[in-house]
Amino acid sequence: MSASKTLVLAYSGGLDTSVAIRWLQENKGYDVIACAADIGQAQPGEMDRVRQRALDCGAVESVVVDAQEEYARDFVAPAIAANAMYMGKYPLVSALSRPLITRHLVATAEEYGASAIAHGCTGKGNDQVRFEVTAMAIAPELTVEAPIREWGLSREESIGWAQERGIPIPVKKDSPYSFDENLWGRTAECGVLEDPWASPPEEVFERSAALADTPDEPEELTLSFERGLPVSVDGEPMALVDLIAEVDRRAGVHGIGRIDMIEDRLVGIKSREIYECPGALTLLAAHRDLEDLTLEQELAQEKRAVEGRYAQLIYNGLWYTPLKRALDAFIDVSQRYVTGEVRMQLFKGHAAVAGRRSDLALYDHDLATYDAEDAFDHTQSEGFVKLWGLPTKVWSQKQADVR
Ligand code: ARG
Repeated sequence: MSASKTLVLAYSGGLDTSVAIRWLQENKGYDVIACAADIGQAQPGEMDRVRQRALDCGAVESVVVDAQEEYARDFVAPAIAANAMYMGKYPLVSALSRPLITRHLVATAEEYGASAIAHGCTGKGNDQVRFEVTAMAIAPELTVEAPIREWGLSREESIGWAQERGIPIPVKKDSPYSFDENLWGRTAECGVLEDPWASPPEEVFERSAALADTPDEPEELTLSFERGLPVSVDGEPMALVDLIAEVDRRAGVHGIGRIDMIEDRLVGIKSREIYECPGALTLLAAHRDLEDLTLEQELAQEKRAVEGRYAQLIYNGLWYTPLKRALDAFIDVSQRYVTGEVRMQLFKGHAAVAGRRSDLALYDHDLATYDAEDAFDHTQSEGFVKLWGLPTKVWSQKQADVR
C-alpha cells in the first residue's frame, strides 16, 4: 500500500464506518485515523469500546473526543436562542451535530497532518451535505471521501465483504432501523417507519415512555433562563449539558418529546421521520414563552420571521456561512432581555407552560387589567382607532366597489 496518505474518518462504531476503514485502505490507499465525538449518545464506557473497535478494524490511530460541553455551548445554546425547529417541528438533532463533528475531523487532520477526511453517509440524506459543506467552509483544502456513498453496498454485502477479510465488525442484532442520537435528542428512520401510514412501533423509542405508562399525576418543573440560556432547574444551577440531560429525563418519564413527521429533505425527497426529544421540546416551549413575556413586539415579530430561516440554514448544512453569522448577531442582541423563570407542567405527553415571570417582563399588570386599578387611558383609543382605520375607510369610499 502506498505510504503516508492519511485520512480522518468520522467513526461511529457501527457496521458501515467499521467496514469503511478497510475499504479506504484497500481502494484509496489511505492510512485511516478514526475520530469519534462523544456528544451525549453513549453509555458510560461505550466510547472506549468504540475507540478500540476502530483499531481492531484496521485504523492506524483512533481518537475519541468528549465534545458534549462544546456541543451544548456552541450548537445547542444558539439553537435554543433561535427556537430552531425545521418545518416548525424538528429540533435539528442531527443537523446541529454535523458541523461539530466536522470541526473535530478537521482539527484531527491538522494534528496528524492528514490530507483528507471522510464520512459514512449515503447519497440520499442531508448529513453528507452538512459534513461536506462545513468542510468547504472551514478547511476547503481538504479532500472529502464518502466511502459508503461511493461503494453502495447493502448491509449483507458489507458483512460478507468484512468476513472475507476477517474484519471484526460489530454484528449487533439486526435492527431494521437507523438511529442517530445525541444530547439534544434521537432520530429513527427505516424499516416499517418508511410507511407513513403505519404507527411507529414502541420499540423505536428509548427516551420517552409510552403514554399508557406515564404517571397519572402531573409534575412541575421550573426553568430559569439568563439572556436566553437555561441555567437552572427548580432553582438548582446546572451546567448546560447536565441541565439538558435532566430535563430530557424528567420530560421523557411523562411521554413528552415524540415527533412523527413527513420531512422535506434537502436532496429533494420527502421522508418519514420519528424523533424523540423530550428535553428539547420542553426547553424550547419554555424559552419561547419567556420571549413572549420579555421581547418588545416589533422585535418579537421580526425574530419569529428569522427563526424559520435560521432553522433552514442549519438543516441545509449552512452553519458556517455569512448569513448564519449575521442572523446570529441579531439573535444574540434579542436575547439580552430573555431572563426569567418559566414553570412547566409535564403531563401525558405535553410540556405545558403553567406560569412565567421576569424582572424584565414587559407585561404590565396595571395596563393589562380589567379591574379598577386600570392605568390604560381609554380615551386615547378613540383617536387611535380612527387613524388606524383611516386608510381602510378611504379605500372603502373610493375603490371598494371596483372589481
Ligand atoms: N432526517 C434527519 C436530518 O436530516 C435525521 C438524520 C439522521 N441521520 C442519520 N444518519 N441517521 O437531520
